[in-house]
Amino acid sequence: MEILKGKKILLGITGGIAAYKSCELVRLWQKAGADVMAVMTPAAVNFITPLTLASLTGREVLTDTFAASNTGIDHIRAARWADLAVIAPATANTIAKIACGIADNLLTSAVLASRAPLVVAPAMNCAMYENAATQNNLRILKERGIALVGPDSGYQACGDIGRGRMSEPAEIFRQTASMLIASGQNRRMVITAGPTEEPIDPVRCITNRSSGKMGYALAQAAAVRGWKVKLVSGPVSLPDPVGVETVRIRTASEMLEHAWREARDAECFIGCAAVADFKPSSVSESKIKKTANDGFKLSLTQNPDIIKTVAALDNLFTVGFAAETDDLLVYARHKLQSKNLDMIIANDVSSPLTGFNSDDNEATIIYRNGRETPVPKMSKEDLALRIIDAINCELAETAALSESEENGRQ
Ligand code: PMT
Repeated sequence: MEILKGKKILLGITGGIAAYKSCELVRLWQKAGADVMAVMTPAAVNFITPLTLASLTGREVLTDTFAASNTGIDHIRAARWADLAVIAPATANTIAKIACGIADNLLTSAVLASRAPLVVAPAMNCAMYENAATQNNLRILKERGIALVGPDSGYQACGDIGRGRMSEPAEIFRQTASMLIASGQNRRMVITAGPTEEPIDPVRCITNRSSGKMGYALAQAAAVRGWKVKLVSGPVSLPDPVGVETVRIRTASEMLEHAWREARDAECFIGCAAVADFKPSSVSESKIKKTANDGFKLSLTQNPDIIKTVAALDNLFTVGFAAETDDLLVYARHKLQSKNLDMIIANDVSSPLTGFNSDDNEATIIYRNGRETPVPKMSKEDLALRIIDAINCELAETAALSESEENGRQ
């Protein structure tokens, strides 16, 4: 499916053994419809030839600032052409140059001259990666808003085992595709997060242990990927995510009111909130007194199902969460169907290490067509990016499919 049709990617290749993986990356982008231009550093041509990249991309490969064919502004031409610049592999040396703004070859000059978002996939020996100088340079890149993909841990070409391997092409493809799809389109997403609080009297309520971490991470990840995000949050002690419009509510009814209003203009809705399924049938205006030897009976009424209500809206991609302690996938699949969702994120909440109030989470992404993608335990920030990327790719595929059906009818 050509989800990147019309997108232009400048691929920078530097001098590391992982350069051979760049060919696979080019193929993945091209299969998705993107146009790729390669720029290689002088060191990179020792690992793979410009001819290989020229054959794959169908374009001249830029390697030499002072080549006879270069009019002297190839780096500016390449910089202006790109929708996204990606350096994969990025050596410690090139990362250091970018951090300092050095432009001593065609690639570093193009990066300095480019206004396109930049993605860097580090690749180096684990000791070079751990070196304080490299760590400092990577921190500088991050602070400038440059996206880092990887590196991964594992066996290295030099025989060491550790962190520094370039991420797999499929992973770099997934993240860059998601950035390209959502960027600059002003698309709207609504996310619910945290618990709800259902009052019993002025001092007591029914609530749960949701900290809001997962929902806030999703809101931040969606904003990073270019979505215009409205976060409808229950009572939590987290700061508002940067660049996200956040509204704070207490009860499920208030959450429904805001979610419904915002979702009507949105393209995507994610229900990550742990909504109280029941609320007290009546709320006492004064504090309920303890009466001797007398039990206390609380009558409960069912709350509205927020996600099921918004899922009825036309053209809204609806993503739910299933928080389960047993038979996770069975219940999650059932919720996907019964709530009429496009996707559900099944997470096991029986362990203190994942689910409620933890920093990490582990999940299975279940699609409407039955496809299931397990995601191993990772930080909620990383899982959030995975989920947003999965949503972006799903939406882009649907759009590409309806475009080709439309073209077929004409
Ligand atoms: O906030 P954290 O501490 O980071 O924890 C994250 C989390 C565990 C709360 C989160 O990952 C999660 O699983 N959220 C959904 C919790 C939940 O209520 O699951 P559920 O299986 O009961 O509900 C299924 C879906 O219906 C959810 O999308 C929920 O938002 C939605 N729902 C439920 C009830 C209701 N009345 N209205 C709803 O919209």
